[in-house]
Amino acid sequence: MKRVLFFSPAFPAEMPYFCRGLARVGAQVIGLGDQPVPALPDVSRHALADYLQVPNMFHEDGVVHAVRDYARRVRIDQVECLWEPGMLLAARLREELGLPGMTVEETVPFRDKWVMKEALDAAGIRTPRHRRASGGDEIRQAAAEVGFPLCVKPIAGAGSADTFRVDDEGRLEEVLLLTRHVPEVSVEEWIEGEEYTFDTICSAGEIHFHNVSWYRPRPLDQRTREWISPQTISLRDTTGDRLAPGIEMGRAVHEALGFQTGFTHMEWFLKDDGEAVFGEIGARPPGARSVDIMNYSCDTCVFTGWAEAAVLGSFSQDVGRKYNAAVIFKRAQGQGRIRRVDGLETLQAEFGAWINHIDLLPVGAHRRNWKATLISDGFVMLRHPDLDTCLRMADRIGTDLKLYAA
Ligand SMILES: Nc1ncnc2c1ncn2[C@@H]1O[C@H](COP(=O)(O)OP(=O)(O)O)[C@@H](O)[C@H]1O
Ligand SMILES: [Mg+2]
Repeated sequence: MKRVLFFSPAFPAEMPYFCRGLARVGAQVIGLGDQPVPALPDVSRHALADYLQVPNMFHEDGVVHAVRDYARRVRIDQVECLWEPGMLLAARLREELGLPGMTVEETVPFRDKWVMKEALDAAGIRTPRHRRASGGDEIRQAAAEVGFPLCVKPIAGAGSADTFRVDDEGRLEEVLLLTRHVPEVSVEEWIEGEEYTFDTICSAGEIHFHNVSWYRPRPLDQRTREWISPQTISLRDTTGDRLAPGIEMGRAVHEALGFQTGFTHMEWFLKDDGEAVFGEIGARPPGARSVDIMNYSCDTCVFTGWAEAAVLGSFSQDVGRKYNAAVIFKRAQGQGRIRRVDGLETLQAEFGAWINHIDLLPVGAHRRNWKATLISDGFVMLRHPDLDTCLRMADRIGTDLKLYAA
């Protein structure tokens, strides 16, 4: 039986289910985290054979020391982490313990967006034209080389933070002020089009499962306009000509970066002329309930599927796609506490069993910070075999379900 060190079992929200997946395929799961055991989610606690609590997960040397110490007493066969900020630490732990799996060198191109794009450029993958720059003069120079319209974003960005479209020199000067606190930016050709994902579960370089999700509208619009109810749609049919260039690019990216085993999450642009352009890739699953909609799309357990691929090197989940599955995130109008939720009963009566899951903040709860979490004030998940019907229902959740705060 393999002993798998897994962090972190408590956060983000999907991790307990990956923990449970590991236990289901017969692994002995050793959790690694900085919460005390009673603070762990029940699903994780039940899945864990043991738990190593460290004072601070971000104190790398401290964690390495604690894990080495632990490994002297208890054999560890594998280290897994599906959380972006922990990827490099996991790689370092593997190297310290002499275990197989992604090394630091193999992980860096998935973590450092500059190294990522350089590696993919070298492999001939279509990325937006890009320059790296810090400070006003360098950014102006980069902008002159790239040309308008362009995108300015942090090299070490996440969640569309400090990301701007720039159409002319006047706006560039404004954006220079807005990004003064960002140490280093990427100045990129602006790619107009739709945005999709290409997500996979692999072992030994073989893609066992792939998923294409569609972000509606584009993430930058989702993250800058509060009135929008962002949607992610896991697409039932990924076989058409339209998505083919993105899927092909995804396979080429895996090849170029030498990805072997685990979950990947790539984002790509589909231009109006049909060209696919690379966005970014992580060696981990997407967040914000995207794995749940994969499950709803296939009526399967992708969490267990990942664990099987990661631990046993095989994949036996039924991932025949039956539905288009959507998650729609809601943002209340007004500030403070949720006072009223309108429209839910009507929509439920109309959509019936196509709605899979509703998780809205209850009346009386404080609003969440929609800039900090895509989950915002809650979400609805629904699915339908027909894409147009799925989109129509998702749009109605966007417009007719209303949360009010005061
Ligand atoms: N070159 C670009 N052209 C057009 N839009 C972009 C470009 N780069 C980023 N964006 C927008 O900003 C969003 C966030 O950028 P991304 O590179 O995915 O970083 P992160 O998601 O880590 O913040 C993208 O989903 C897209 O909407
Ligand atoms: Mg992104």
